[in-house]
Amino acid sequence: MKTMLIVFHSLTGGTRQMAEAAARGGAAQAGIQVDLVEASKAGAADVLRADGYIFATPENLAAMAGMMKDFFDRTYYDALDRIGGRPYAILVCAGSDGQNAVRQIERIATGWRLRAIADPIIICTHAQTPEAIFAPKLLPPQDLSRCEELGSALAAGLTMGIF
Ligand SMILES: Cc1cc2nc3c(=O)[nH]c(=O)nc-3n(C[C@H](O)[C@H](O)[C@H](O)COP(=O)(O)O)c2cc1C
Repeated sequence: MKTMLIVFHSLTGGTRQMAEAAARGGAAQAGIQVDLVEASKAGAADVLRADGYIFATPENLAAMAGMMKDFFDRTYYDALDRIGGRPYAILVCAGSDGQNAVRQIERIATGWRLRAIADPIIICTHAQTPEAIFAPKLLPPQDLSRCEELGSALAAGLTMGIF
């Protein structure tokens, strides 16, 4: 049995839907346990136990969400030099950009010596006004399918020993 850890934070639901879609894709593979854990509740034990990772965050103020950063701050040194070579992927929900959140997570993953197994997925909600920014998000099924496929690909690679 291989374990896939999905750590996520979400304020208005977009990233949560992306993370849940990836979890569905992963769970559809035999021999995979999916741990879908909110960033505020995830710790170093979750990271060390897993064989592969998906990190999912909103982009807030041109950065990963603070709760996601807090997760990395709490776990980085406990996991350093203990998870090198494991596969990972990134999901970002953004209003219009998302690139900087990706860059920040990539730098941390480089420090951990993780291996990216796919291009990051960024889904933009195009929310611009304060009302739209704080409104609950409902992401299009075709975008969520991409997240589901990513979860499925990571899980398949883990069970087949490709990663
Ligand atoms: C405080 C705040 C700052 C934001 N800053 C950015 C930003 O810098 N770039 C961007 O593309 N979207 C930005 N957004 C939009 C969010 O990324 C977008 O609403 C996304 O859906 C949030 O994901 P969630 O639904 O999982 O909370 C910001 C939203 C908030 C609340």
